[in-house]
Amino acid sequence: MTPDSIRQAYRNAGQDQVFHFFDQLAPAAQETLLRQAAAIDLTEIDHLVNTLVRASGGSSVDVAGVEPAPYIPLPRAGGDAAQWAAAKAAGEEALRAGRVAAFTVAGGQGTRLGFDGPKGTFPVTPVTKKTLFQVFAEKILAASRRYGKPIPWFIMTSDINHEATVAFFEAHNFFGIEPGLIQFFSQGLMPAVTFDGKILLAAPDQIALSPDGHGGSLRALVRNGCTAKMASMGIDIVSYFQVDNPLVHCIDPAFIGFHLLAGSELTSKTCMKAYAGEKVGVFVQRGGKAEVLEYSDLPADLTNATDSDGKIRFRAGSIAIHIFSRELVERMGAAEDPALRLPFHLAKKKIPTVDANGQPVEPTEPNGIKFEMFVFDALPFAKDPVIVETAREDEFSPVKNAEGNDSPKTCREDQLRQWARWALAAGQSIPVDATGLPAFSFEISPLFADSPEAFAARAAEADLREGSVLQG
Ligand code: UD1
Repeated sequence: MTPDSIRQAYRNAGQDQVFHFFDQLAPAAQETLLRQAAAIDLTEIDHLVNTLVRASGGSSVDVAGVEPAPYIPLPRAGGDAAQWAAAKAAGEEALRAGRVAAFTVAGGQGTRLGFDGPKGTFPVTPVTKKTLFQVFAEKILAASRRYGKPIPWFIMTSDINHEATVAFFEAHNFFGIEPGLIQFFSQGLMPAVTFDGKILLAAPDQIALSPDGHGGSLRALVRNGCTAKMASMGIDIVSYFQVDNPLVHCIDPAFIGFHLLAGSELTSKTCMKAYAGEKVGVFVQRGGKAEVLEYSDLPADLTNATDSDGKIRFRAGSIAIHIFSRELVERMGAAEDPALRLPFHLAKKKIPTVDANGQPVEPTEPNGIKFEMFVFDALPFAKDPVIVETAREDEFSPVKNAEGNDSPKTCREDQLRQWARWALAAGQSIPVDATGLPAFSFEISPLFADSPEAFAARAAEADLREGSVLQG
């Protein structure tokens, strides 16, 4: 596209304001703006403005006919132990056949934590302060050693943190993973628009762009050649997790097995909400199709509803851990028809912009709209989706806030409780309080043990005291 044709396309789309300062810009700045402008799909923006923005007059998400979605309970909660054992065996077979890749979405801004840097570089372990990325790396390495097959790791970044993320892995020798097995790629960006659908400028030579949500991962995996690479490696199972939760079983044979035995295209983990107002999405169904409703979209009467036995009715929380079949990613990530792609959600935000003289404006009230896709919206598009329960204490303790719930402190304590449970189950004596929190800090690397069984097998090597670190 030539500069003229780009500008013409913007004029035709009623978005000429993007070039308001163009003639005053230095050539390099003009080029930046043209490059950003050319990368935007104006037809998509036009469609979103017509369908979402114009219809957004405070309307809430339709929840008519929503029921709790069924899920496979843990054996201790009434699940069938034989079915769990069969699932684990099926998952282990797939891992030994090298069919599995790990996939982390790490393109977000981590604003709530107030940490300046890619969130995966945040230190989380109690003694050596390993970062989130290192914990995941060690879990993936441990699984690949156990099953005798390399497990490639795909990491989605965004323009905000791509270079810093890659540099961090390089500086740490990729935490012992062969560099060729890790593929970093940047997710797509979307422009922010005014409430009338006009694309906003962040500066005279910059469009106000932000990442397109974790749902952008489906098309980013396709556009960046990741699905093609997976196909060439014989990988058809993609183990998806967020960057904020060091307790996640990045590679979980039983979870993979449930996915395979059901012939599912998308299998998701659920953990029961700790309290009705917990800020997690919930699994629901309507018209026979499962979906996730974000906590902010669940009206208070449904959030607080209880069953006849007094339990929270919509209690199956979505903890953002999924198995995708490669086929589903390929199909949805490459779809041309908007009806077959993930939908966009809009969020009213305070978007830094410029005034008519090109001077910066920091709004104090929302002045525009950002568009994001959510990966869990793939559920209604997936064949035979499955939802599987996991135990919160074993798998979910995200670092989201600087203090309070889901903070570095709660996460550190949950790691300690988990390791103390393993030690106690293996017959060691560790002083713990009523919440199971040990009286001293120590650390167990996934490379030493990544499960109670693995710990029990090596318990004789484990002398746990204040500051102990069990590494490889
Ligand atoms: C998310 C889920 C929520 C779930 C909870 C579990 C959404 C909208 N909500 O909430 O249903 O119960 O996690 O912890 O997702 N990311 C990108 N690119 C983006 C945006 C986000 O890669 O453009 C990544 C982040 O790096 C992070 C993850 O997605 O790994 C979650 O993003 P975040 O915005 O923190 O979601 P939550 O509001 O915590």
